[in-house]
Amino acid sequence: MIDKEKWDKTFHDLPDVPPVDEPERQYYFIRKARQIVQKINEERGLPLRYKIVTFGCQMNARDSEKLAGILEQVGYIEEAEEEKADLVIYNTCTVRENANQRVYGRLGQLGHAKKSNPHMMIGLCGCMMQEPHVVEKLKKSYRFVDLIFGTHNIYKFAELLATRLESGRMVIDIWKDTDKIVEDLPVERKYSFKSGVNIMFGCNNFCSYCIVPYVRGRERSRDPKAIIREIERLVADGVVEVMLLGQNVNSYGKTLEEPMTFAQLLREIEQIDGLERIRFMTSHPKDLSDELIEVMANSKKICKHLHLPVQSGSSRILQKMNRRYTKEQYLTLVDKIRRAVPDISLTTDIIVGFPGETEEDFQETLDVVRKVRYDSAFTFIYSKRSGTPAAVMEDQVPEDVIKDRFDRLLAEVQQIAAEVCTVHQGTVQSALVECRNEHDPHLMTGRLSNNLLVHFPGDESLIGKLVDVRLDECKGFYYIGEIVSI
Ligand code: 5AD
Ligand code: SF4
Repeated sequence: MIDKEKWDKTFHDLPDVPPVDEPERQYYFIRKARQIVQKINEERGLPLRYKIVTFGCQMNARDSEKLAGILEQVGYIEEAEEEKADLVIYNTCTVRENANQRVYGRLGQLGHAKKSNPHMMIGLCGCMMQEPHVVEKLKKSYRFVDLIFGTHNIYKFAELLATRLESGRMVIDIWKDTDKIVEDLPVERKYSFKSGVNIMFGCNNFCSYCIVPYVRGRERSRDPKAIIREIERLVADGVVEVMLLGQNVNSYGKTLEEPMTFAQLLREIEQIDGLERIRFMTSHPKDLSDELIEVMANSKKICKHLHLPVQSGSSRILQKMNRRYTKEQYLTLVDKIRRAVPDISLTTDIIVGFPGETEEDFQETLDVVRKVRYDSAFTFIYSKRSGTPAAVMEDQVPEDVIKDRFDRLLAEVQQIAAEVCTVHQGTVQSALVECRNEHDPHLMTGRLSNNLLVHFPGDESLIGKLVDVRLDECKGFYYIGEIVSI
């Protein structure tokens, strides 16, 4: 771990040549960017402000915290409104096409705002930037963008920012892939009491509809010692709940020099004193081991929630999706998990309208939903991603057929989720208090182990604490309750 203060003193007068090793190199550029920002702030008599807008998944949310960590070190102050910020960063997602369209739309508006603020810089990063056609379009039609970088070199943000601040020119740096993992850079957490922790990057599964393996690169696991060290530091800093993040956490450790399983990693994390809750996502059904089920069943800290994307209930479609399990194997796995951890909450992702999906295939999906009875499900309309095998498959399903299936699926999922939610009525469960309720300031909001939210009378002193709450009234997908003990 780098001693930032010592570093700052050592480099009071920055040498001309930056260090070669990481993370020292990035600390050098943080210092360099800070000097430039300080000068601008003095000239303006106002501190520069930043706003990061995050699209997509938890992985992106965690990346945004890393960007914020660097910006705070550099001397920027967070701003709530995009138009008022001097540096706006869009951390983009490209899993589905509509996310891309949203970025272009917002970027156009931001271009207008930039005209009235000469200090404003615009940065773009995340998965969308890993697609060459996107960068081409930005270079051609969005010349006002200042900084473009991808998912593999996000750790270089300080260096890229310093380069942009110094040169005044558009900086574009995209890597195709990397096996590099840089540890110990600053992070600015959104919550004081819970945090995401990356345990692996990339994905090797190549589900035929999915662009992630192309934009996030090959699977690489973080060194378990670095993960444990990070969690220990988080706990020392007040964190009680961690969410272990990876595209496919069940294959954690396979690429390490000394391979280990995800279940083994969980056992080690469980030992960390002061850590109360462990969550993880995402699990791929094909890699979910008996060892993991056993660890979950015996753990006091792993939350009673498993996100297990099924994607489709039809074995024929699952094969075309390259998911490498059948409907029957998935249902058997669910049974096994439920037997070992009876009170577990199960959630899923489902895609409707994959190429070639017939009404019979769709009925199979409905059948899985009815059999598993998910606590909740994210339902997606299939989105054609160019470069993926599914994009060139024949029999793309017509839009109106997809829409009709999507509506029927959503109705089924919601109906079941509401029924499943009521089973907890009257029980007392431990909730981690997260925030004040947005709609009713007398209520606080807490999250149960099974990921349900409960709202109850309380005050802000409870934030970050685990409290026992009686679940009095089910409101469909959340509860109203009362604290019984703190
Ligand atoms: N179209 C629709 N949904 C997709 N997902 C991934 N790729 C696509 C696509 N091309 C969904 C999957 C995945 C979730 C994160 O996004 O359900 O689990
Ligand atoms: Fe995409 Fe499949 Fe990898 Fe998930 S497991 S990121 S759906 S390729």
